[in-house]
Amino acid sequence: MKIEVNMGCKVLIGTQWGDEGKAKLIDYYSGKVDIVARYQGGPNAGHTVVVDGRKYVFHLLPSGIIQKNTKCVIGNGVVIDPEQLLNEIAEVEENGYDVRGNLLISDAAHLIIPYHRVFDGAMEDNSDKKIGTTKRGIGPCYSDKCLRVGIRVGDLFNPGYLEARLKETLAGKNLQLTKIFSKSEFELKSVKEMLVKFRDEIAGMVTNTQYYLHKSIDEGKTVLLEGAQGTALDIDHGTYPFVTSSNPTIGGALMGTGLNAFNVDEVIGITKAYVTRVGEGPFPTEDLGEDGELLRKNGAEFGATTGRPRRCGWFDVELLKHAKRVNGLSNIALTKLDVLKGFPKIKVAVGYKLDGKKIDYFPTGRIDAIEPVYEELDGWDEDIMECTSFNDLPENARKYVEFLEERTGVRASIVSVGPDRNSTIVR
Ligand code: GDP
Ligand code: IMO
Ligand code: MG
Repeated sequence: MKIEVNMGCKVLIGTQWGDEGKAKLIDYYSGKVDIVARYQGGPNAGHTVVVDGRKYVFHLLPSGIIQKNTKCVIGNGVVIDPEQLLNEIAEVEENGYDVRGNLLISDAAHLIIPYHRVFDGAMEDNSDKKIGTTKRGIGPCYSDKCLRVGIRVGDLFNPGYLEARLKETLAGKNLQLTKIFSKSEFELKSVKEMLVKFRDEIAGMVTNTQYYLHKSIDEGKTVLLEGAQGTALDIDHGTYPFVTSSNPTIGGALMGTGLNAFNVDEVIGITKAYVTRVGEGPFPTEDLGEDGELLRKNGAEFGATTGRPRRCGWFDVELLKHAKRVNGLSNIALTKLDVLKGFPKIKVAVGYKLDGKKIDYFPTGRIDAIEPVYEELDGWDEDIMECTSFNDLPENARKYVEFLEERTGVRASIVSVGPDRNSTIVR
């Protein structure tokens, strides 16, 4: 018997260490789809959309929320900070958008309770092996999910269960907070009040989003899945332990929405024309010299969530090949090509050496021992932000894109040449 499943789902995934420009492309595509759904991560994400010079930064709201006819979903795989979400909803509504009319929130999504943030900060501050987390409570919240003591959106509508769960959980948390980290206790009353206020605000938006997404696809609607973070930050396929606590890769997209592999017709890898990373951890092509500084300055590489300077370096072919294998990339959108203007020579890490031997894969457990092998390409001096077709680009910019395609075996079907929605070249 043949399985009949409707397609219509595209997935946008970061292929590096996050901040690849995912939100810009989500916004670009979201005018062409019916639904945009976030599938993992939480307010550690900082997703920037620029429309006609106006900048929006989303942390929890899907980046399709400023498209008037697009429904948005926060999927079951996302961890939600109630106060952050309410603030974001209020901010976007102040700008004239109908968030409440367009947003659905999974009843199975887990909640970041204020103690999660305190644990995140305290663990970082007390560790000799800092991850450099965003201190948004992400790791502690996903840990509670796995321990099966987390609080889910749906639990807010079951007061008896919520009270009992909170009481039991708080007792344990308070003991750890006070005895191990010398922090203050959390009071049941204030946590409960905050959650009840949140419940009342979101009640009309909560649903079984897994069923909603399947039903929509069966009705012929199109869905775009929005990843947060990136492949090298994946808890399984990234540079553990310097990773986030979820799966930004394709498996996470399915797990975090309840859609299945047969629903997906395209996986688009969002890829910066160079590489950046925020926080600690190995980064083989990092440039600690003047060039790295120039990339940070020209690319305005400062975290959209924490404001931290992003570490900058050169394009890494093996990293993209890793992202291609793990996610099954159909193609990539190459972003921030404009930032490379003015470099006489542009370096590309075309391969790796490990223990003196050439290897042809991304060894997630031994990335700190990697020696990148570089080639240099000629740069260009022209400003390319106004270019609207691939042929408008200077010859060396076209050669750079074609070189990356040839070495990685993935086609760049979109080239982004500026932060604005319109600075997008489709090939
Ligand atoms: P995300 O987390 O992947 O959505 O990316 P961020 O929003 O954290 O960081 C990407 C930054 O680059 C944002 O400030 C975007 O406005 C900006 N950006 C996106 N695409 C381009 C591009 O093609 N050129 C330039 N110059 N900036 C871009
Ligand atoms: P977007 O969606 C870049 C990094 C943090 C830290 C590690 C773990 O904007 O691309 P966490 O708070 O998740 O426990 O931190 O992951 N990190 C990101 N880096 N972009 C992000 O999101 C990130 N989200 C988390 O800096 O190194
Ligand atoms: Mg970001």
